[in-house]
Amino acid sequence: MSIQLGDTAPDFKQDSSEGLISFHEWLGDSWGVLFSHPADFTPVCTTELGFTAKLKDEFAARNVKAIALSVDPVDSHHEWIKDINETQNTIVNFPILADDDRKVSKLYDLIHPNASNTLTVRSLFIIDPNKKVRLTITYPASTGRNFHEILRVIDSLQLTDNYKVATPANWQDGEEVVIVPSIQDKAELEERFPKGYRAVKPYLRLTPQPNR
Ligand code: BEZ
Repeated sequence: MSIQLGDTAPDFKQDSSEGLISFHEWLGDSWGVLFSHPADFTPVCTTELGFTAKLKDEFAARNVKAIALSVDPVDSHHEWIKDINETQNTIVNFPILADDDRKVSKLYDLIHPNASNTLTVRSLFIIDPNKKVRLTITYPASTGRNFHEILRVIDSLQLTDNYKVATPANWQDGEEVVIVPSIQDKAELEERFPKGYRAVKPYLRLTPQPNR
């Protein structure tokens, strides 16, 4: 069965380029980004993993750990990492799960037989510190993902959790945000949003981004 938003991210033990990973223990109190890709030594994946490595500081600033997955064994991952480092001018600084027995792929529904019977699809999960799945996406094998968008979603989720605000279409860090409809009490509004807010409609209330 596919994984849905709000589900607890399935726990697992699996080998990786950085040794055996007990997933929930490895996550600890961090947010997680678990992403799969079709196979080692493939062009789009090489760019994705290289770009993710370059976002190390951005992930750290948000308390996020990244972990990749493909159905190739550890030895293959180690050889491929050398290529990623060389061609993408970076150093891969996160584990790649070696899911050659498809254990994690089955748990996370990463084999879509009508796309490929053997290779994993290009899926990504954002997991919060309570181990709940907060975002799922699946991209075509031929389309590399936009990791700036992943950071944007993490920022949005963290704003919602910390300040009870949502983010409007195409929101970018520093722009106005939306007050969640469940807050109606005037005293609570004043306390939570000391910078004030403007009500375009009773259900559409905008306020400056609280943490900026
Ligand atoms: C890849 O790099 O993973 C890829 C590229 C083209 C088609 C399918 C996959």
